[in-house]
Amino acid sequence: MSERNNSNEHHGKKPKVRTEMSRRQFLSYTLGGTTAFMAAGMLAPMIRFAVDPALKHKGEADWVKVVEEAKVTNEPQSFAVQVHQVDGWYESEVELTAWISKGTDGKIFALNPTCKHLGCTVNWNTNPQYKNQYFCPCHGAHYTADGKNLAVAPAPLDEYKVKVENGFVYLGQLGANTRG
Ligand code: FES
Repeated sequence: MSERNNSNEHHGKKPKVRTEMSRRQFLSYTLGGTTAFMAAGMLAPMIRFAVDPALKHKGEADWVKVVEEAKVTNEPQSFAVQVHQVDGWYESEVELTAWISKGTDGKIFALNPTCKHLGCTVNWNTNPQYKNQYFCPCHGAHYTADGKNLAVAPAPLDEYKVKVENGFVYLGQLGANTRG
């Protein structure tokens, strides 16, 4: 017993009740909290994995109307549209950007401007050294009009699914490039 408690007893006072947390309590609270946190961290992706197919299925049906078919040229043009996105419990408005053009095969296709090196944004025909190519200003990656990677980037630009209906171009899911 501590010296202070001894002196309290000596003067006829009640010994002070210790209200501080014991080391054992502290450790059990801390470890308990950490374990719960880690369990939540492990459970979240598992729940998401279970729920995801349903969300994905819903997303696959979504098409976004972007531009009149007649306005699409052989020269790629950049289009931006607002999309209402539902990701689990989180809903947001996101801007979807695509470079849309008509290929040499006459087909309309749409590329995502996110560079496949480290994610900067590519632009069409901005570097005189790489005429009629997509160029990324960050580390110099460049791509053909079909999105094929020519240098720096390890993969072609991603491509949106495209459908043309009643004279309008619609964009669907983003996926791997089928042209590059
Ligand atoms: S991010 Fe485009 S070249 Fe590095």
